[in-house]
Amino acid sequence: MGELSGRVALVTGAGRGQGRAHAVALADASADVVAVDICRDVASIHYPMSTENDLAETVQLVEKSGRRAIGITADVRDSAAMEAAAARAIAELGGLDIAIANAGICGFNPMTELRRDQWDDMLAINLTGVFNTFRAVVPHMVERGAGRLVATSSGAGKSGLPNLAHYSATKWGVIGFVKSVALELAQTGITANVVCPATVDTPMVHNAPLYSIFAPDVAEPDRETVRPMYAAMNPMRVPWIDPEDVTHAVMFLVSDKARYISGETIEISAAGSAQR
Ligand SMILES: NC(=O)c1ccc[n+]([C@@H]2O[C@H](COP(=O)([O-])OP(=O)(O)OC[C@H]3O[C@@H](n4cnc5c(N)ncnc54)[C@H](O)[C@@H]3O)[C@@H](O)[C@H]2O)c1
Repeated sequence: MGELSGRVALVTGAGRGQGRAHAVALADASADVVAVDICRDVASIHYPMSTENDLAETVQLVEKSGRRAIGITADVRDSAAMEAAAARAIAELGGLDIAIANAGICGFNPMTELRRDQWDDMLAINLTGVFNTFRAVVPHMVERGAGRLVATSSGAGKSGLPNLAHYSATKWGVIGFVKSVALELAQTGITANVVCPATVDTPMVHNAPLYSIFAPDVAEPDRETVRPMYAAMNPMRVPWIDPEDVTHAVMFLVSDKARYISGETIEISAAGSAQR
């Protein structure tokens, strides 16, 4: 029996990357998991999103831990779809105890070249998506008098970053939103917290267009080309952290040990937070 035995967790962006790592760890701690992902590309974003196969693989990994899993293809921009996902979790798995609003996208352009569709998609997914996710689950948690909410911001939610004004705006927004929610829910038994990762080893930062921003003079930059450039972005000089490094912080925040931690931001920043 794991620490989260009897609990049900909903994770958005669970098709791969950090979302998948969270889903697997939650299952390893004996929680049942609802894994949500868009499973189709976003037109304004230069790298592919997860596929139906990716989401099915996450479901399989959860089931391998002996837990129940439901994979749901849904877009966090769609409030009705998020409410339907929460309702399904409650109907089929008996309740909802944990929600991890992790789904997100990243694009880049100098502010003066940012297109309106890039801005709109970024806000709709990275910020409104967190609202839609928490809005869908909180009434049920309030009724039960317990719950754990965690949203994924970023180091970009603690500082500005050139070419990422729209991304950074959403990640600052997530922190303001979650801190406010933590206060509103302070007497309900529900905690709300944020994780702020440094660069994480996922497709979001491993794609050719982003490599070319870091190495404009290299014809076909690859993972090894950008390794030193990515490493220069944090004081520990690690090029990227593993999704599981973020998962450890998430697992603490959803555990009983963190019952009096709410409105907090935990930075998994390889010492970047010390410079802010
Ligand atoms: N990778 C990094 O360096 C990094 C650093 C700091 C913060 N983050 C944040 O971490 C979170 C997870 O990103 P990741 O690194 O695992 O990247 P990723 O691209 O591997 O995973 C993101 C997942 O979200 C899904 N998704 C995107 N839009 C969605 C939507 N509208 N509805 C539902 N699902 C959607 C994608 O299909 C994908 O499975 C994001 O919020 C991201 O902004 C990432």
